Amino acid sequence: MDKGNFIAFEGIDGSGKSTQIALLSDRLKEMGIVCYTTREPTDSPIGSMIHQIMMGRIKTDNKTIAALFVADRIDHLLNDVDGIVPKINEGTTVLTDRYYFSSYAYHSVDMSMDWVIKANEQSSQILRPTVNIFIDLDPDLAVERISKNRFHQELFEEKSRLIKVRENYQKAFEKLKDEENIIVVNGNQDTKKISDEIWEKVKPYFQ
Ligand code: ADP
Ligand code: TYD
Repeated sequence: MDKGNFIAFEGIDGSGKSTQIALLSDRLKEMGIVCYTTREPTDSPIGSMIHQIMMGRIKTDNKTIAALFVADRIDHLLNDVDGIVPKINEGTTVLTDRYYFSSYAYHSVDMSMDWVIKANEQSSQILRPTVNIFIDLDPDLAVERISKNRFHQELFEEKSRLIKVRENYQKAFEKLKDEENIIVVNGNQDTKKISDEIWEKVKPYFQ
């Protein structure tokens, strides 16, 4: 049996990943393609610990957080209840909201990108995405969206962080351009235009 495709959606917070995953998943299902959507951090016990750290309920240092994401990702790939690898092997297409490029972009705000890439080596050896789709949204627009949807006191800090994260994504894509399949889509457009562009780029993998 043919393996399923594995498509990782990447972007800064609020870039429209979950919106686009839902649209692509609907389109694939209409075509009769078996499709499973998932996200990182996961809902596993390791992912729950990450959520608690992000909410400030548990305090730890940045290297530990990066390492927890590494562990959450390996479990996301391999666990036998709903692991990605068994699904891909049985022919299911998997769409994930974030994968290792999120680690490269977010954790290298305060540590070396090479350290983060090295720490994620197991995941890249186990499963590389068929394609990484980067929804490139202007950080100004991201902050506008975040401020509409969530209560945020420090929007200025949030914006400068997102600017760094976006730069780190670009740096990581440049560093890994020979090994990874990366598609950049302009996220500063309406939802339908973005989904049509994504479909044009991924269509060949489903023919
Ligand atoms: P992410 O999963 O990357 O955090 P979402 O898909 O949840 O992003 O989108 C963040 C917010 O922006 C949501 O309120 C969503 O409805 C809105 N949104 C998503 N795509 C667009 C778009 N192209 N134009 C305007 N608003 C959008
Ligand atoms: P979430 O609320 O799911 O945000 P979004 O809807 O934007 O994806 O939180 C995910 C947060 O976790 C987001 O700020 C990015 C961060 N993150 C990391 O720092 N490292 C990682 O490896 C991953 C997957 C996410």
